[in-house]
Amino acid sequence: MIRSKTPAEGLLRPIGEWYVAYTCFGAAILTFMAYEYMFLSKSLSYFSTAVFSFIGIVYFTEGNSLANYQRNIRRLRYYEISPSNVAFNPSYVALGRGFRWLPIHTQRLRDTFKSHNKEYVVDGSLYTAVRHFCIQNQYTPFLKHLVSFLEKDSPLNPFRPLPDIGGNPAIHGIEPKEKDFLWRYDERVGHTGIFGQSRVGKTRAAELIISSDIRAGAKKLRSNINDGNVVIVIDPKGDGELLRRCVIECIEAGRLDDFYMFHLGFPEYSCDYNPVADYQKITEVAGRSTNQVAGEGNSAAFKEFAWRFANICSQAMEAVGEEVSYETLSHYISNPEDVTERYLDKILHVEDPDWRQTVNEIAAEIDDRAASFKDRTKYVIAMIHFSKDLLSARSDNILRHLVGMLEYNKSYYDKIVASFLPFLDKMTTGKASRLLNPSIKPTPGKKRLRWRDVISRRGVVYIGLDALTDPVVAVAVASAALSDLISVSGEIYKTGSNFDEPTFKKHKSKLNKKWQGNVPILLHLDEFNELITGDEIIQLLNKAGGAGLIAQVYSQTLKDIEAKIGSSAKAAQIIGNLQNLIMMRVAEESTAELLVSKLPMVEIESNTGVSGTKDSGDLFSGQTDNQDRLTTKEDHMLRASDIMALPKGQAFFLKNGGEVWKVRFPMFAKDRLKLPVEVEAMAKEMKSKYHTSDGWAERL
Ligand SMILES: Nc1ncnc2c1ncn2[C@@H]1O[C@H](COP(=O)(O)OP(=O)(O)O)[C@@H](O)[C@H]1O
Ligand SMILES: [Mg+2]
Repeated sequence: MIRSKTPAEGLLRPIGEWYVAYTCFGAAILTFMAYEYMFLSKSLSYFSTAVFSFIGIVYFTEGNSLANYQRNIRRLRYYEISPSNVAFNPSYVALGRGFRWLPIHTQRLRDTFKSHNKEYVVDGSLYTAVRHFCIQNQYTPFLKHLVSFLEKDSPLNPFRPLPDIGGNPAIHGIEPKEKDFLWRYDERVGHTGIFGQSRVGKTRAAELIISSDIRAGAKKLRSNINDGNVVIVIDPKGDGELLRRCVIECIEAGRLDDFYMFHLGFPEYSCDYNPVADYQKITEVAGRSTNQVAGEGNSAAFKEFAWRFANICSQAMEAVGEEVSYETLSHYISNPEDVTERYLDKILHVEDPDWRQTVNEIAAEIDDRAASFKDRTKYVIAMIHFSKDLLSARSDNILRHLVGMLEYNKSYYDKIVASFLPFLDKMTTGKASRLLNPSIKPTPGKKRLRWRDVISRRGVVYIGLDALTDPVVAVAVASAALSDLISVSGEIYKTGSNFDEPTFKKHKSKLNKKWQGNVPILLHLDEFNELITGDEIIQLLNKAGGAGLIAQVYSQTLKDIEAKIGSSAKAAQIIGNLQNLIMMRVAEESTAELLVSKLPMVEIESNTGVSGTKDSGDLFSGQTDNQDRLTTKEDHMLRASDIMALPKGQAFFLKNGGEVWKVRFPMFAKDRLKLPVEVEAMAKEMKSKYHTSDGWAERL
């Protein structure tokens, strides 16, 4: 009431309203109890009491909200919700609490930085002394109980410690009227980038969105206008809590049957996945299996060769009906004669099943010099001659290319593929190799991850890459898995089908108009900056939207993305594809600028007191002058330094092309559900292994 009448809010000042309130309450008591002494009639006393009480209450409430505000900018309560409170609703994600950031908030925030407002921002000396006392005496035996009381986070404790979230609490505290923040599903269609330095709560925020997503696709909610969804979580480092969350939510949502857990660090519990087995065009296989071969500078030519040989082998494998895997590729690239033999078997099995005999006859006529010149066996050279004869009578591209491969001198050939084989070795040895090459020896009863099945079953997929153990395999699998996903979603884009249940298309949903015909695929890529190595991510963000794919990418800095992708233009393309921006505390100005640069300038007011005296020379008169001048100046709606000072679990959220919200995410309280013993054991082991080594991918 009083605030709204003044041009500037003036929220950081002594609370004068309380003096008025207490005086009014005093007067109300007096007029009620002692009206005779004031020469008032009884009815007039009641009236005065009512009037004084009313004014007292108005001022008291006003004073209270001011006190609340002043407390709020110094400390924000720890924010926790019970996991059971996450809604089962496909139309929105409840992303914590927040408010829309307006110029008034910039004004209030700037006011806290003024030097005369220091006492409202900095802790009092008594509070600081008590906190120091607790730190110094936490092991002093006879003070144990006192210290533990002073450390309690309870309203009864006036000296309770601030929540361990760091940062500047005023950034959120300047709006005491925060509300639940609901993020509508249709606003997510344009992909979302979540930026934040290490340990500021990106993965916890991911947990919140993922729980909501898994529940949004709960079986009990499915109908002909809500066809469920597919949730994919890629977790490079292996955050045990994230895995636990996925499993718990699948249990809650009745989706455990459709849950796929693929974890390179835990092959015994993981499902199988062959990232090169499924494709729309066979050339994709070569791309996926060579994208991790270094391709800069001199290596570019070798990468080209690797691609070509992988392509020839995979084409031949497709023709003979053999499943492509890293294992088979590795074998056939090292021994191209084997794949040629299989191919000849395939094409000649009717017309000339005894072709080997002819080859042996040719081999017998080859002299030793020719064989040693090629560094190949006589049999292989004979096979080349035999194939060439065949080719003179028929045109067969695959055979022609296979012969081309065999015609290289063996030692020269080995040199060309030398850069490729170590990578393939990595994918075919170690404890994860059985998972990645399931066709060799499939384990009975083991689930197999195939995107097509996942999509048609509306699955939930958790991919743990165990990147702290082996970054090369981690990045290769991530990149191949994403390419595989792009290829499947490309197919959806072209045909507009979601592989099954076409009834979905016939119905119109008011809320989810954009998704008609496609099941939403909600992809969460944690540690995104470490995962990007090639163009697949650009393709994913550019094209896959049409297939209902909605990506949430979590990354530390913008520079990392640039460094990884090797070009600022490509990085800009990636960023340009992120319509929503959630900016948590970042360590680097250029990342903060991503948000700052998108916001307008606002006018900030400041009050200057001017006072002066004028001596007219007369002994008895003079002039004094006192003015308050309200000046305005332009300032950024947010500065990079504000973003760099955010507490943990808080963010600025830019959506709808320019609307900026200030939000804070809750932490989940303890779960009521018990997890299967093996999941609990896995999560525990993951936690013990987990460390925040930034830039693990530098070991690549
Ligand atoms: N909303 C929150 N409120 C309070 N503390 C939080 C919140 N989010 C995260 N934290 C704290 O930050 C720590 C790191 O969070 P995490 O999500 O693992 O960070 P990141 O993924 O960004 O490295 C958590 O263990 C927790 O202590
Ligand atoms: Mg994390």
